[in-house]
Amino acid sequence: MKIAVIGTGYVGLVTGVSLAEIGHRVSCIDVNEEKVAKMQQGISPIYEPGLSELMTKNINERRLSFTSNHREGIEQADVIYIAVGTPEKSDGSADLSFVVQAAHNIVDCINHNVIVVIKSTVPVGTNDMISEIMQCHLTSDIEVEVVSNPEFLKEGSAIYDSFHGDRIVIGANSERAASLIEQINQPFQVPVFKTDIKSAEMIKYASNAFLATKISFINEISNICELLGADIENVSNGMGMDQRIGSQFLKAGIGYGGSCFPKDTKALIQIAGNVEYEFELLKGVVNVNKKQQGILIGKLNDCLPNILGKKIAVLGLAFKPNTDDLRESASILVTTELIKQGAEVVAYDPIAMTNAKSILDPLVQYAVSIEEAIENSDAALILTDWDEFKNVDLAVFKKMKKPLVIDGRNCFSVKEMERNGIDYYSIGRSVPAKIAEVASI
Ligand code: UDX
Repeated sequence: MKIAVIGTGYVGLVTGVSLAEIGHRVSCIDVNEEKVAKMQQGISPIYEPGLSELMTKNINERRLSFTSNHREGIEQADVIYIAVGTPEKSDGSADLSFVVQAAHNIVDCINHNVIVVIKSTVPVGTNDMISEIMQCHLTSDIEVEVVSNPEFLKEGSAIYDSFHGDRIVIGANSERAASLIEQINQPFQVPVFKTDIKSAEMIKYASNAFLATKISFINEISNICELLGADIENVSNGMGMDQRIGSQFLKAGIGYGGSCFPKDTKALIQIAGNVEYEFELLKGVVNVNKKQQGILIGKLNDCLPNILGKKIAVLGLAFKPNTDDLRESASILVTTELIKQGAEVVAYDPIAMTNAKSILDPLVQYAVSIEEAIENSDAALILTDWDEFKNVDLAVFKKMKKPLVIDGRNCFSVKEMERNGIDYYSIGRSVPAKIAEVASI
């Protein structure tokens, strides 16, 4: 099948490369010529394990190409994927201007019948709206059918997820279009769920909102655990054994970040609001997350009430491990607050520092290693659970003025840290002193 993919952001690029890998001829289109020139040489604009290798392989085997010319990319395509961004507007709703632009580009370039697949995360009703825009501008003898096919890829394991996903959702108005998209995806051997267009659009938002709810829920439980002397790791494990609950997304921490959960939860609140429904539960989820992102600052201020002029090491800047993405990462809020309180902030992240330099406060300094970041520091805050941190030799913390580690991702065992003489605070796990306090009441 000949496929065009409009937009080579995270979703578009991974989709295009994966479709090429299963045998389709894919032309990826992006307006950014500089980016296209790099991708033509197999250089990926994002860090994603396995992506560059598959790009090079499929370019060499002539199944994958990149262009900034819409006509060139679209002319021969049987199916055109729209995978452009839908950024958050200031009111929380999704900005659809790139999707609408892509629809106009398609109409301007096609001279044959096509199926347009919308991969971008778009509010319920957008597929119909895009279909109408195209119908209005098309010459009468060309037919375009729009199909919703949301993505569920996780950053850092997107290539793996493409081949091992839990489901592929296809929302279509006709069995013919749904079957064609099913056929395209057949080599992935992932279960297919076919439904109507609006339900497919909603499945994407509802799934992300549900996962975000699980995270905010467990984070609130962790805060209560701290007050009562229970251990969140034990609680999560015990809860997760109930198959109705499931063990995933029950890891307490400093809240969710990234390009999807924060944006999609706010968008779903908006979508519901547009039809005069107040999504109270989801509003709570968003508020809890905002509070949770700042929880380490509270813990730090409890230990060191005045951090003016103190050296604070920040370990981990990406919103999660195995990505260089800082979007909506707690590191933004945490470093901003530390600088505001007058601390000297020295950060280290195995991969995300280049991105961080253009996003974080210019006063943030960067170290080349954990050792350099924590040397002579007054406290170390852990924001991302990179393996490099989890596997570090605990003796390294002796380089601090007095070992004080505040861990937002529960990277270490409380007992182990205690044994190594490290003053250690984490999430939802009571500090021994606190247990004694509660027990004595
Ligand atoms: C998410 C969805 O998982 C994916 O299906 C969708 O397509 C895009 O959004 P992603 O943003 O890549 O993927 O990351 P994910 O691994 O889901 O983690 C999101 C955030 O939640 C991270 O900040 C992570 O640290 C946090 N998280 C996740 C927790 O705090 N606890 C958990 O148990 C799981």
